[in-house]
Amino acid sequence: MAAPTHAESRAADSSSATPEASTRVTRKDQLELAREDVKNLVSEKFCHPIIVRLAWHDSGTYDKVDSGLEIAVNLLQPIADKYKDVSYADLYQMASVTAIEMAGGPHIPLRYGRKDAPGTESPISIGRLPSAAPPWQDGASGPAEHLHNIFGRMGFSDQEHVVLAGGQTLGRCHPERSGFGKPVTKYTEHGPGKPGGSPWTPDWLTFNNNYYKKVKAQDDPDLVVLETDDVLFKEPGFRPFADKYEQDQDAFFKDYTAAHIKLSELGVEWQGQPFTLEPEEQTPGPKVEAKLENLQVSEE
Ligand code: HEM
Repeated sequence: MAAPTHAESRAADSSSATPEASTRVTRKDQLELAREDVKNLVSEKFCHPIIVRLAWHDSGTYDKVDSGLEIAVNLLQPIADKYKDVSYADLYQMASVTAIEMAGGPHIPLRYGRKDAPGTESPISIGRLPSAAPPWQDGASGPAEHLHNIFGRMGFSDQEHVVLAGGQTLGRCHPERSGFGKPVTKYTEHGPGKPGGSPWTPDWLTFNNNYYKKVKAQDDPDLVVLETDDVLFKEPGFRPFADKYEQDQDAFFKDYTAAHIKLSELGVEWQGQPFTLEPEEQTPGPKVEAKLENLQVSEE
């Protein structure tokens, strides 16, 4: 869908932002400046994961029920307020790929010039995002059928679903937000960012293929493995791709880039001729060793 819909209304609800009609037209020079602000924000708050998750939900459809994503909306709202000539859709998607690159991931050459959705209601019904555990809202008999259905409905193949799931190499499950994960693990007790939660990988602020390695190994009780992760190495239709990305980070980066672009363009309406931003030299992403420095920076 064209982002944002519920996200925008939430921003208006939960911050001092004035609700505005979704008529923003993106200027490239303003989007470039906004990217600098995003880089500063992400470096300061270590909020890469939740920014990536916001963009994924805004592409798949913003889900009001789950999640704590208003944290990400509120983090980005001052930048949205500062750059009125940047659509929310472009801001959220640009912030996500900037965060991925800053975390050591690939440069993802998104196209910009996205229209914001005209209203506050999503054109795609809530509940179209995947669940992480039963009951599967589509009546599926298990996680494999559920994921095949949900991603298939969005137009993704099993390979594309498996590679997109690798986005969770960043970040954590917060039990107080989603109900999944532990309140704290040895990898999260000191942050960086707000302490707590269960990550998928020890180095959960680095974008790499450790998600697949750790989901396959399942050798660490301080790392989370959801049913929807576990099935990647169990379902015959998923496993060849999961094995490939577990063994080959270059293949993961290449295929992730293509699938991320496709995800970000679901239902997009363009303002005119889309444009891209030139890649920049990135500040190296914070590594997990940062936790040893006892960094405690709140996301909120
Ligand atoms: C395959 C189906 C998926 C399921 C069932 C799923 C489920 C979840 C759940 C339950 C959380 C924990 C939220 C919290 O407690 O804060 C989460 C976090 C996250 N997800 Fe997914 N997700 C899926 C796919 C994706 C995709 C495709 C992406 C990106 C391309 C993604 C990116 C993230 C990120 C970055 C986080 C960490 C957020 C944070 O640390 O605040 N997920 N996911």
